[in-house]
Amino acid sequence: MQIDPTQPSIRASTVIRNIGQLVTIAQQPIDGATGVLQVISDAAIAVHDGIIVWIGPDDRVEPMFQHDTNTHVDGITIVDAQGVVVTPGFVDSHTHLVFAGDRAEEFHLRRAGVSYGELLSQGRGILTTVNATRGTDTKTLTELAINRLNIMCHYGTTTVEAKTGYGLDMITEEACLRILNSLNALETSPGYEYNRVRVVPTFLGAHVVPPEYRERRSAYVDLIVEEMLPSFVGLARFCDVFCEREAFTFEECRRILTHAKALGYALKIHADQLSPSGGAKLASELGATSADHLDHADDADINALHKAGVVATLLPGCSYTLRSPYPSARRFIDRGLHVALATDFNPGTSYCENMQTMLCLAMSSMGMSLEEALQATTINGARALALQDEIGSIEVGKRCELSLWSIRDYHEMGYHFGINLIQSILVV
Ligand code: NIG
Ligand code: FE
Repeated sequence: MQIDPTQPSIRASTVIRNIGQLVTIAQQPIDGATGVLQVISDAAIAVHDGIIVWIGPDDRVEPMFQHDTNTHVDGITIVDAQGVVVTPGFVDSHTHLVFAGDRAEEFHLRRAGVSYGELLSQGRGILTTVNATRGTDTKTLTELAINRLNIMCHYGTTTVEAKTGYGLDMITEEACLRILNSLNALETSPGYEYNRVRVVPTFLGAHVVPPEYRERRSAYVDLIVEEMLPSFVGLARFCDVFCEREAFTFEECRRILTHAKALGYALKIHADQLSPSGGAKLASELGATSADHLDHADDADINALHKAGVVATLLPGCSYTLRSPYPSARRFIDRGLHVALATDFNPGTSYCENMQTMLCLAMSSMGMSLEEALQATTINGARALALQDEIGSIEVGKRCELSLWSIRDYHEMGYHFGINLIQSILVV
């Protein structure tokens, strides 16, 4: 490819052209872009070494690069986006990716009136999945996770946070963490794109107290603090806890997270999901990266989260499944918090891999505009993983991790629902 000497010289390995609408979600104003989402019509992107080096109108590409479309020219790959909408890939910042079995039976029991909390205190719920996961070999667990990742990227997700929490013993928790790490090094196979998805591993040993520790729960907390946390440094980026009546108390969570922080883990909390558990308070006190669920957070909690700069991650899939009221996103957004939306993909409360569904639920039932929902599923998801400087928007200096939609106007999102509007992801 020749570079026109009269134009600024741009070194690129890939140029993506003919983008009908580039929805950048840029955090800084971009030349020629409009609206809160900084949308550029008829756009192009140049990429080098996986990093975006130039964004602009497609008709400014020609003077910089002379080439044929849709071909490799002098080592530069030209991708023709054929006039569709392009956004950053979805960042799904809360999932429980690795587990065996399902809980369809319990789902239908809940339809008949048994609550999620009741099942949990009967030793079912999460523990049903712990039994199934402990009884499944690593190869099968890996295949299950790969299939789920493949579905996720089929629906436009390029980064997935993934928690352990169905092992709850040293061996199975470690095996699950190793599986999550191995997913980042996968080779591609025909028809699959999962190897393009980034997986961010989280240790959730404090999901529930396992049955063998029921009568001596403090020994399980000791095991987490003294053995699991030190052993898993480097295998997990985050430590999460389920702070809830049926799971871990405020004080147990504080102990675990304080140790985790001292060991260098970043923190997350399942906070105030089923009752006011104090989780949001703890997240603010310890400077967690995100507090997740927050269905029962009160105004003081929200103000404290804002002050501490904690991302509020809302999970509409749980409200759908548990038939509980949807969290009111407005309470968080109007107080200036960053709100992220995630699937919470898991077999109990949200058996859904699809971030487009979360966007639709947020717009239909949580009072969010399309602009807010798109920010929540991309840049704010990245914030919930402390990756906002790398991903979550399309800006010079960020990684090129995109979703190509099969639509020509982004306003179709949330409006045209129940089908997959994603054509493919594109990770350069
Ligand atoms: O985020 N609340 C705790 N953990 C999950 C549910 C896990 C399960 O039911 O298996 C959640 O909702
Ligand atoms: Fe969860």
